[in-house]
Amino acid sequence: MKVLITGGCGFIGSHIAELLAAQGYEVVVIDNLSSGNYRSDIYPIHYYEIDFTSMEMEGIFEKERPEFVIHLAAQVDIKTSMENPVFDAEINILGTIRLLQMCRIHEVKRFIFASTSAVYGDLGGQSADEASSLNPISFYGISKLASEKYIQQFNQQFGLPFTIFRYSNVYGPRQRSDNEGGVVPIFIKLLTEGRIPVIYGDGKQTRDFIHVEDVARANLSAIEKNVDGVMNISSMSDTTINRLYKLISGFFRYDKDPLYLPNRHGDILFSRLVNKKAETRLGWKPRLRLEEGICQMIQTVTVKNREGTDK
Ligand SMILES: NC(=O)c1ccc[n+]([C@@H]2O[C@H](COP(=O)([O-])OP(=O)(O)OC[C@H]3O[C@@H](n4cnc5c(N)ncnc54)[C@H](O)[C@@H]3O)[C@@H](O)[C@H]2O)c1
Repeated sequence: MKVLITGGCGFIGSHIAELLAAQGYEVVVIDNLSSGNYRSDIYPIHYYEIDFTSMEMEGIFEKERPEFVIHLAAQVDIKTSMENPVFDAEINILGTIRLLQMCRIHEVKRFIFASTSAVYGDLGGQSADEASSLNPISFYGISKLASEKYIQQFNQQFGLPFTIFRYSNVYGPRQRSDNEGGVVPIFIKLLTEGRIPVIYGDGKQTRDFIHVEDVARANLSAIEKNVDGVMNISSMSDTTINRLYKLISGFFRYDKDPLYLPNRHGDILFSRLVNKKAETRLGWKPRLRLEEGICQMIQTVTVKNREGTDK
């Protein structure tokens, strides 16, 4: 069976591509490499270096005729969305609508979409399940929510089957450690280099960290189980950024405080997602605990540094 993955060279997409290829799926990746890297060594797959919003996609659908589409390519940065909401909406909303049109025309069996906990907005200390109110506080969250609505309408009007996954904070190997990356690899990189990490706000804000391998398994389940719907994919636990810092700095036996800077616009204070629906409907459960996932990442970085590789 053939699966087309937009953003398949990115952090999450590369893990999904790798897992699906290992399971015997034929994987076709679309990526413009704006933030991803092509790694033929990691997943030998069929790959087009193009923008998923471009007209060339029609020819690719015509030629490849994918049965499943996993849509991950996106403008993923909250700060960029606040500074340039038009750019964010063009990629995240209009791009998604164009892709849905192609999926509809080519009778794709399932459209699997990477949404986000940002659609809930600030939860005021409450955990969010899929029925919780949706009040995004960033343009990124709004563009993901708008895409969700279009996907559901394509299902209603044209019968396009869909799975929408609302991911909490995904972390793991291959995540970027530059300014646009996730807090886990940023802390690990800075502490490896003996530099002091920055925490925006007082560090009491919480995040629900989920390992990327668990996220990849959820996508495999979405293909294998024929279930429509919106599902949170999370660890269902909340970790303050201060605790995360303690955990990671503890591995490095580093006892200095981080540098605290003012909060950033659009950043959520509390985030914890209930994942029971994915468990009931897909038989999916997270497997990797945060401590284990972080320990693995640090070991990998340490080995690479020792070997002087950059893979
Ligand atoms: N990382 C997280 O914690 C998280 C949480 C919730 C949701 N998500 C969603 O998951 C998806 C993947 O996120 P990620 O963390 O892997 O990000 P990423 O930046 O590593 O991956 C995105 C990929 O899409 C590609 N891309 C971007 N714009 C493109 C375009 N116009 N045409 C073709 N390719 C394009 C990039 O080159 C990159 O390879 C995104 O939709 C993101 O919104 C991520």
